[in-house]
Amino acid sequence: MCNPLKKNKKQFSSLWSVLGIVLILMPFPSAMAEYADVILNKNAEKEGMRPVIYPHWFHRIRFRCKVCHHELGFKMQVGGNDITMANILDGKYCGMCHNDEVAWGLEHCHRCHSGLPGLPTSIKGGDKAGGPGDY
Ligand code: HEC
Ligand code: HEC
Ligand code: HEC
Repeated sequence: MCNPLKKNKKQFSSLWSVLGIVLILMPFPSAMAEYADVILNKNAEKEGMRPVIYPHWFHRIRFRCKVCHHELGFKMQVGGNDITMANILDGKYCGMCHNDEVAWGLEHCHRCHSGLPGLPTSIKGGDKAGGPGDY
């Protein structure tokens, strides 16, 4: 009654102990940061908009790495791209998909500009980062 795992088959509980050991031996969560959310705030807040939360994992499960990091030219570095609203409106960076064709369009400012004020350009969370509205 107190331990729900007891109801499961024997190999299940040994699986859990193996998992437990793996979890204990696992390095700090930040080691998996490449799947987390990226906060982009080079100019947004200076220009009166909330920081942008870019949910990397959300996109990564929908597209192959090479779509963005090769074909669309995003450098694999936080803050390493010259992403501005002018570029985006010009159909570059986020604007290559957020154009009402591949994904919803640029009129939904708050969907991208969803970060709390004061967040610097950085990476946040592990592979379970929640995305927009979380910070
Ligand atoms: C839909 C586009 C897209 C896809 C798909 C994508 N990325 Fe990214 N990635 C980005 C953007 C945008 C950034 C942030 C760049 C910036 O800050 O200027 C980024 C940042 C990164 C970074 C730097 C941040 C960090 O974690 O250190 C790494 C590494 C990275 N991506 C690796 C990958 C890998 C590996 C895949 C595939 C498994 C992938 N990306 C798929 C768009 C994408
Ligand atoms: C698809 C995502 C997305 C949408 C939608 C979006 N933006 Fe942005 N915006 C960005 C990104 C990414 C940046 C660069 C963030 C940074 O590093 O400062 C940015 C930057 C900005 C900046 C900073 C100055 C500049 O030119 O870069 C302003 C102001 C801005 N956006 C206004 C808006 C307004 C107003 C809307 C709605 C009409 C909007 N944005 C919609 C992603 C978006
Ligand atoms: C390769 C195409 C592609 C690129 C490039 C891209 N997006 Fe997206 N994005 C999508 C698609 C597709 C969706 C899902 C749209 C839907 O659910 O209707 C999405 C959804 C989102 C969401 C909503 C996530 C959620 O939880 O619903 C945010 C926020 C977002 N994108 C921000 C950005 C920002 C910021 C950039 C640029 C740094 C960007 N995207 C670049 C294709 C892209």
